[in-house]
Amino acid sequence: MTPHLLIDQAVVTYGAVRALNQISIHAAKGETVALIGPNGAGKSSLLLAIAGVVPLRSGAMRLDGRDLAGQEPEQRVGLGISLVPETRDVFKKLSTHENLLIGASRRRLSRAQILADADRIYALFPRLAERHAHMAGFLSGGEQQMLAIGRALMACPGLLMLDEPSLGLAPVVTDAVYAAIAALRDQGTTILLVEQNAARAFSVCDRAYLIQAGQVIEEGRAEALSARGSVETVLFGYADAGKEMTQ
Ligand SMILES: Nc1ncnc2c1ncn2[C@@H]1O[C@H](COP(=O)(O)OP(=O)(O)OP(=O)(O)O)[C@@H](O)[C@H]1O
Ligand SMILES: [Mg+2]
Repeated sequence: MTPHLLIDQAVVTYGAVRALNQISIHAAKGETVALIGPNGAGKSSLLLAIAGVVPLRSGAMRLDGRDLAGQEPEQRVGLGISLVPETRDVFKKLSTHENLLIGASRRRLSRAQILADADRIYALFPRLAERHAHMAGFLSGGEQQMLAIGRALMACPGLLMLDEPSLGLAPVVTDAVYAAIAALRDQGTTILLVEQNAARAFSVCDRAYLIQAGQVIEEGRAEALSARGSVETVLFGYADAGKEMTQ
């Protein structure tokens, strides 16, 4: 069966830095796949390359068998690829509600359909409903993360990519974000989830790749990777180290 997403031997360089070194990953339709690795491993570069924001030096990327080469970032959004970057970009001077509406701007929908979609985001994140008229720049970090995810969802992605969605969030906010990720997974969205918090990622993912220095070190189901101590090895250098940090 053709995978939903196929990355084959992808290389990304920034000048002399080789961020991705012939990396290959895949995701089936509806699968939630975690990408785990230390700082500088190339996780964000991989998501940015899939979104078309950084170019591949060599290798190939396919969505439903279709070659993504030459597809601009906007075209990839049109193909159903949506990225929530580490930077959680929201339009700070627009309201929460306006930010959501902008997320749907590339879809040809009636206003009524767009508002119905926004209501679904408010159901997913009730906090955003309470803040719908607030300027996004005044939202807390956690609320901005929910808004960034909500805005990405308004594009109705088949493939949602989340770059460290729990970074800097209080545990209770992380819980809300992960509850939303689990709901999206259950609705059949394909999800690529970058996390340093492996335990969190493993609570929702089907499968994970451990990434180091731009390459896949190990791949498998979360339980198998946990049992082998592989995550501690890739994140901290040896098994059993820092286990409490990944809780
Ligand atoms: N714009 C850039 N210019 C130059 N080098 C870059 C750039 N972006 C990333 N790099 C380098 O590429 C490598 C991979 O970085 P990347 O941000 O993809 O890693 P990461 O796994 O997302 O790390 P983190 O966990 O810290 O977010 C690193 O060595 C980084 O310094
Ligand atoms: Mg990163």
